[in-house]
Amino acid sequence: MSAVFSASQLDTLAHSPLGKVSGWPQSLRTSAQLVLNSPIPMLLLWGEQLTQVYNHAFAELAGHKHPAAFSQPFQLCWPEYSAYSQPIIEAVLAGHSLSYVDQYYVVPDRQHATERWLDLTFSPVCDEQGTVVGILMIAVQISTRRTALKKTAKALRELNDTLEERVNERTQALAQANQQLQHEMHERERVEDALLHAQKMEAVGQLTGGIAHDFNNMLTGIIASLDLMKRYIAAGRSDEIDRFTDAAVSSAQRAAALTHRLLVFSRRQSLDRKPLDPNVLVNSLQALFNSSKGAKIQLVLELGQDIWPVNTDTGQLESALLNLIINARDAMPDGGTLSVKTTNSFLDGSAINSLEAVESGDYVMFEVSDTGTGMSPQTLAKAFDPFFTTKPVGVGTGLGLSMIYGFAQQSGGHVSLTSEMGVGTCVRVYLPRHVDETQA
Ligand SMILES: Nc1ncnc2c1ncn2[C@@H]1O[C@H](COP(=O)(O)OP(=O)(O)O)[C@@H](O)[C@H]1O
Ligand SMILES: [Mg+2]
Repeated sequence: MSAVFSASQLDTLAHSPLGKVSGWPQSLRTSAQLVLNSPIPMLLLWGEQLTQVYNHAFAELAGHKHPAAFSQPFQLCWPEYSAYSQPIIEAVLAGHSLSYVDQYYVVPDRQHATERWLDLTFSPVCDEQGTVVGILMIAVQISTRRTALKKTAKALRELNDTLEERVNERTQALAQANQQLQHEMHERERVEDALLHAQKMEAVGQLTGGIAHDFNNMLTGIIASLDLMKRYIAAGRSDEIDRFTDAAVSSAQRAAALTHRLLVFSRRQSLDRKPLDPNVLVNSLQALFNSSKGAKIQLVLELGQDIWPVNTDTGQLESALLNLIINARDAMPDGGTLSVKTTNSFLDGSAINSLEAVESGDYVMFEVSDTGTGMSPQTLAKAFDPFFTTKPVGVGTGLGLSMIYGFAQQSGGHVSLTSEMGVGTCVRVYLPRHVDETQA
């Protein structure tokens, strides 16, 4: 017999109905050894008396019944379980295996009762002849598993109980956040509106101020001339008033020209549209360009081949190009290169950086570029504003680019402006390609 049988254990068994180990059948030896060697609580009941053989792990469950229980008949040891065990014993001895899960068990202890949860299995053990002579009970402790499960269940219950409350809290928080967001959106819209309004007011102020100033100058010229004429007539010097009438007329004409340019900018001036060949127009202006550009400036014409016709107001286009030439000249007081270019050009929405949305399609591009002073970002941002000028009084009117902008818009075209300080400026006017329906 193995050494796991302690001498005293074997002694007690010798006095039990099992008798001396040396007289045991092999089946009992094997079964007993299996039980005694196992770390899982096991109890072997053997023979008619159901004599108990168990291991250390089971001894702990036996409580104060241990060690007396070892080698004691089962019924004698556990009378309190007779109702529970009787049907089990009968069934197992009849050859059935049984298992029970989650069995509540209190360890018999005089000091304090310890609760256990056990999974129990009962299986028959046979002798050499195949007759059931014993019962093997295995007890798996599930207390820790059960406690963990209980905790989880409790936590789940609590979670469930507070779920509604938490959902409410969260809903409220979300509603608040939403309200805050709405508020911020409205505030932002309000600020944007205010800014837009302020910008509009500034532009209108600049415009009215500019008009009032220019008109006032012209009216002063007219009124002063009329006043002088009156005095000369009163003094009987009517024959000398010619120069005053001339001055008055010239002032009035400048006022009319100003009104005209303003009308172009505001797109109220009707365009006298005619299909025209861009290159023919640019060529016809060459002499005028040459005389207005100044001697130190080199003029380069790069006219594209097979340039499409455009349908626009010849006078307006001429004056737009002339304005660009003058701007370029003013930007190159020490000379430089001025180039005028024409190209066929297809624009899609993203092709150029213009103020307005671009309708994709075919355009003819008129480009006027210079190698002059260029513009600071601040000047560039305002260059199209009517009456914005960086030039001295009497030189600049601030109506050149604004008029070109208005003209291009009214023609269904665009203007793009790029400029770099110390490098130069490039203005491109895009006019839609004219498609002659009668020839198509
Ligand atoms: N080619 C250019 N190079 C540098 N600055 C330019 C050029 N064209 C326009 N600008 C700037 O834009 C301003 C507005 O131009 P414009 O509307 O033609 O008015 P004006 O020429 O009467 O000043 C100019 O005063 C100048 O500061
Ligand atoms: Mg100008």
